[in-house]
Amino acid sequence: MTDTLTPVLSAQWGAEKSWTLKAYTATGGYEAVGTALKLAPAEVTDLVKESGLRGRGGAGFPTGMKWSFVPKDNPNPTYLVVNADESEPGTCKDMPLLLASPHTLVEGMIIASYAINCHIAFVYIRGEVLHVIRRMQQAVEQAYKAGHLGTNIHGSGYDLDIIVHAGAGAYICGEETALLDSLEGRRGQPRLRPPFPAVAGLYASPTVINNVETIASVPSIVRNGSSWFGSMGTEKSKGMTIYSLSGHVNRPGQFEAPLGITLRELLDLSGGVRAGHQLKFWTPGGSSTPILTGDHLDVPLDYEGMAGAGSMLGTKALQVFDETTSVVRTTLRWIEFYKHESCGKCTPCREGNWWLVQLLKKFEAGQAVDGDVDKLLDICDGIGGKSFCALADGAVACVTSAVRHFRAEFEDGYKTAAWELFPYGASALFPVESPDRSLSLTKGAHA
Ligand SMILES: Cc1cc2nc3c(=O)[nH]c(=O)nc-3n(C[C@H](O)[C@H](O)[C@H](O)COP(=O)(O)O)c2cc1C
Ligand code: SF4
Repeated sequence: MTDTLTPVLSAQWGAEKSWTLKAYTATGGYEAVGTALKLAPAEVTDLVKESGLRGRGGAGFPTGMKWSFVPKDNPNPTYLVVNADESEPGTCKDMPLLLASPHTLVEGMIIASYAINCHIAFVYIRGEVLHVIRRMQQAVEQAYKAGHLGTNIHGSGYDLDIIVHAGAGAYICGEETALLDSLEGRRGQPRLRPPFPAVAGLYASPTVINNVETIASVPSIVRNGSSWFGSMGTEKSKGMTIYSLSGHVNRPGQFEAPLGITLRELLDLSGGVRAGHQLKFWTPGGSSTPILTGDHLDVPLDYEGMAGAGSMLGTKALQVFDETTSVVRTTLRWIEFYKHESCGKCTPCREGNWWLVQLLKKFEAGQAVDGDVDKLLDICDGIGGKSFCALADGAVACVTSAVRHFRAEFEDGYKTAAWELFPYGASALFPVESPDRSLSLTKGAHA
């Protein structure tokens, strides 16, 4: 078995009441704030730049560079907004982090805010996860009482307030500009760029938006140095990160390892694909990253490796599917999600995802006709790259990659229903007691 796990963010997750201030400070928590406040803000940004930290929210944008885009001469206040919306199917790293170690984020927010000259920072948490919201609120309250937040933090003269904001449960509100609209009290829909948030973001003021894991990585960089962080990972994808494994694996969960680990190694760590079955396909980073197959077991799970394999690292949410799973069914379920979550602002995404669902239902029911695979790709062509935001590109990526790797299985949908070729009970992880709920979506499915 590989020994490449490098628990840093997750190092204390198993500790007694790991989420409390007491547990956090017992292992050096908030010491990095003291170190950072002794540096000039620009020195903190430089440290993060040198470390090579790239955003963990999906796109992998260099974090220090993002911070340095904030104009120094803008008279408006600067804001930090932490994106804790985490709604991508399969993605489950930020919520465990917030539950087990919310103070890591609070500490990271203090350091990041100091670096960008921000005095009011926000955490935008998806509304459904009430327990996570409460935990974060409790951590912020404890940090105020201990003097880590509020005025004159650690006697430095620096002031910071943190506001925990609950969203109302919409995937699109994870898109950074839709998040800003939602935070301002409007319906969450993406904004036209430019202007970019660094110049005119929240309340038209300079704003840095970063993912939970990105900001939570900052205290460890301040504590251990940029070379330490850069010593992990690959040439262009530095540091450790949290990979989430779910689906047909024996031990699903979060695995913190250097960027560049492979799925083969992660499967080794997670006990492998469930007994008696083989890997069929997988997502490297949630449903919006093109699917890969058993041919890609040894491709490094970093930004460059995944791009080279025709996919993306995304949120490092590895959903693993064995040979009992219908690719057609899985693709339909994902597109139903995107159709539901499309914010409706632009026509290709709003209408196109609706049409994809209609057509994929025909494939699932074995009622597609010759030429429908090309029609599927044609609809995708009308959506991808022609919509307002990346939600639409992510939606079509799962269809086009599924057809690329499993075209014959889609063509089977001209004659045979997916539930005949791949009975639902065989791929279900839990006993199926009632008739397949999903079949009721398709007329005549029970016939
Ligand atoms: C539809 C959609 C949903 C997104 N959801 C999230 C999310 O839940 N969390 C997140 O951090 N980034 C999400 N992003 C990416 C953000 O727009 C943004 O790139 C990210 O928060 C930047 O943080 P980072 O630089 O630290 O990665 C989403 C993007 C899109 C297009
Ligand atoms: S691509 Fe979809 S989610 Fe994005 S703005 Fe257009 S309708 Fe909204």
